[in-house]
Amino acid sequence: MNGSLEKTGRRMAIAAGLLAAFAATGVGLVAFTELSTRERIAANERAYLMRTLNEIVPAEAHDNDMFSDTIEVSDVELLGPPEAITVFRAFSGGRPVAVILTPIAPDGYSGAIKLLVGIAMDGRLTGVRVTSHRETPGLGDGIEAARSDWILGFDGRSLDDPPIGRWAVRRDGGDFDQFTGATITPRAVVKAVSNALLYFEKNGQALFAPQTNIGKTIQ
Ligand SMILES: Cc1cc2nc3c(=O)[nH]c(=O)nc-3n(C[C@H](O)[C@H](O)[C@H](O)COP(=O)(O)O)c2cc1C
Repeated sequence: MNGSLEKTGRRMAIAAGLLAAFAATGVGLVAFTELSTRERIAANERAYLMRTLNEIVPAEAHDNDMFSDTIEVSDVELLGPPEAITVFRAFSGGRPVAVILTPIAPDGYSGAIKLLVGIAMDGRLTGVRVTSHRETPGLGDGIEAARSDWILGFDGRSLDDPPIGRWAVRRDGGDFDQFTGATITPRAVVKAVSNALLYFEKNGQALFAPQTNIGKTIQ
């Protein structure tokens, strides 16, 4: 009697041990997959950002590592979020060439639209790209360079071209096209880009302050 009880107890202990080992292996596998997926996503995002930065300010136009030569600035009125945003800086032979601001348009149809806005020293846009948005596919997503050429319409523009009063979509009396049945998204982007230009006009010089300022926040 005692012997069979002992056997049953041992079997149960083995079963419990096996179950625990399977559970631990499962948890370990999920954690490993999650970690490597997160790392892969971060690496993809970094690669996309580098590629896009180089589209906006081409490699031959600067000789510094734009990806790591950054400062943080904040201006809730002109740049969007209350927290600081990153500014990538391009230099050639130590001379400032351009900056790429990362403002956020807060007022897309479905919320925030994150942008890269490249501005050359003469105040002209070198390029604008959307890095993240939740606008409706087929309606608002024409702001993506992969979906339409609309965003390329900012290339070479400045606060004088068009004059500031015409930095709006056509529906609002401006120079920029809206999309069929979707005015809210392009309106938000046009406003964020013109605000980025206004920010550059006010703070352009400070954005190129010596490298000792890297990491400091300009208010
Ligand atoms: C389901 C749904 C999704 C929409 N998504 C967008 C959008 O992503 N971007 C946008 O500007 N308008 C979107 N709209 C349209 C807006 O509600 C609004 O009508 C439009 O932006 C105004 O532009 P319009 O004056 O050219 O019609 C959407 C409408 C519906 C019903």
